[in-house]
Amino acid sequence: MKRLLLLNGPNLNLLGKREPDVYGHTTLSSIVEELKIYVKKRQWELDAFQSNHEGELIDRIHQSDGKYKGIIFNPGGYTHTSVALRDAISSVDVPVIEVHLSNVYQRESFRHKSLLAPVCRGQISGLGAKGYFLAAQALMEEE
Ligand code: DQA
Repeated sequence: MKRLLLLNGPNLNLLGKREPDVYGHTTLSSIVEELKIYVKKRQWELDAFQSNHEGELIDRIHQSDGKYKGIIFNPGGYTHTSVALRDAISSVDVPVIEVHLSNVYQRESFRHKSLLAPVCRGQISGLGAKGYFLAAQALMEEE
């Protein structure tokens, strides 16, 4: 079966209790559960991984080559800082869609710059958890 990888970066394990006015009340585990159901209905599989450690995210991106048809990636704060994650994305042949729950362009100016977006297939920002589902839909339709 065709597979997608959902990657979430630092602090996203705290979804639901972290700044709920910015990020909403939904927990990451419930998003993961619903997203698995969403792709399964379309005969796809989803693996999910969250880490607060840059190197672990890099390892998962490296391992994705040949294994996944696409990656849905919320890199959290690393979006704005990580040359190493950008290089990892550039090193594999798997399309990546960058997802942000909040609209980063309505927020502090340091969030307006993504080091990763230029090497991603696309970016979704500001649609809350729905962004993960739209990214999954786009990657499945590309196949
Ligand atoms: C975020 C936006 C980032 O700027 C922030 O550092 C996060 C979450 C989002 O989903 O809106 O951790 O990626």
